[in-house]
Amino acid sequence: MKRMRVRSTGAYLPEKVLTNFDLEKMVDTSDEWIRTRTGIVERHIAADDEATSDLVVKAAREALERGNLTPEDIDAIIVATVTPDTAYPSTACWVQKGLNVKGNIAFDINAACSGFIYATAVAQGLIATGVAKTVLVAGAEIMSRFVNWEDRSTCVLFGDGAGVVIYEESDDDSGLIDIYLGADGTIGELLIQPAGGTRMPPSHETVEKKLHTVHMQGNEVFKHAVRMMQEASLKVLEHSGYTADDVDLFVPHQANIRIIEATIKRVGIPWEKTMVTIDKFANVPAATIPLTLHEAVITGKLKKGDLVLSSAFGGGFTWGAFLMRW
Ligand code: ACO
Repeated sequence: MKRMRVRSTGAYLPEKVLTNFDLEKMVDTSDEWIRTRTGIVERHIAADDEATSDLVVKAAREALERGNLTPEDIDAIIVATVTPDTAYPSTACWVQKGLNVKGNIAFDINAACSGFIYATAVAQGLIATGVAKTVLVAGAEIMSRFVNWEDRSTCVLFGDGAGVVIYEESDDDSGLIDIYLGADGTIGELLIQPAGGTRMPPSHETVEKKLHTVHMQGNEVFKHAVRMMQEASLKVLEHSGYTADDVDLFVPHQANIRIIEATIKRVGIPWEKTMVTIDKFANVPAATIPLTLHEAVITGKLKKGDLVLSSAFGGGFTWGAFLMRW
């Protein structure tokens, strides 16, 4: 079986920045509440004429340039998202159009905030079986289109953006070491966008009742997130024969700074080895991990040879973790 490693990363964040102080003027909230309860200070918001694939295309162009590749070098495009351009075609197919390539593999994955980890497992499968040599995996969201801007308990939490990682066959010691995935659909209603699918098709009523937006029981999600991010992290370490002490950088999903703090305490990773971007980007579901990996690369916090642990939890519920030699 062939292993895969990272060739390059890229990111795109929309120009408009919405601060906690801006939100104070929109709903009954405060910068102090948002900062202390979530760790978020500001988030990026897509322009009206931007769709999710537009964000991916910009992030992809950066990753291609950094990897010294052209769009024609990519054998497969996988986009992890819960906010696709259209129900179909997939966002990945719109990305093909944006990059002006055709003939390669292109599809989306929906595993909410765990989407990038799920997509990484699929990329490994494509490379291991020889179906593809070079795979572009994106996590991308425009959550601002699907939050209820009158609901202070959710609208302050999310942001828009896209992160891209290009994977390729590995011919050295670097690359994916182990990956662990899980899901529990029996309690999925705790975090849901109820309308817009076959269960509740779009109607005047669903729009009036704002059922096309995020509905979340935050406290419950919080508890499950801490438990499963811890479990996934420990499982992947244990299975691959490493310990928390071996990890050079932990790149967790960025949903809440308190979830991150509780997870690192339980896994045994020090704060100095934990990469945090939630203050600047907020929760950009499937995009937070590739965005944060890219941030770690460009700020020099992630270097060749480093052992990187990543874990996520999200709607579904879904969760996962991977361990990678950078
Ligand atoms: N500003 C001011 N007050 C607020 C706000 C706000 N923006 N939001 C809620 N409050 C109030 C509540 O009304 C409540 O007031 P009350 O005590 O008078 O009833 C109080 O603050 C406490 O509310 P809680 O919901 O208990 O606050 P908590 O500390 O749990 O924080 C939060 C809420 C931030 C949502 C937290 O539960 C959380 O982060 N949950 C996990 C989110 C997550 O991981 N999502 C998964 C990813 S999303 C995806 O997969 C698509």
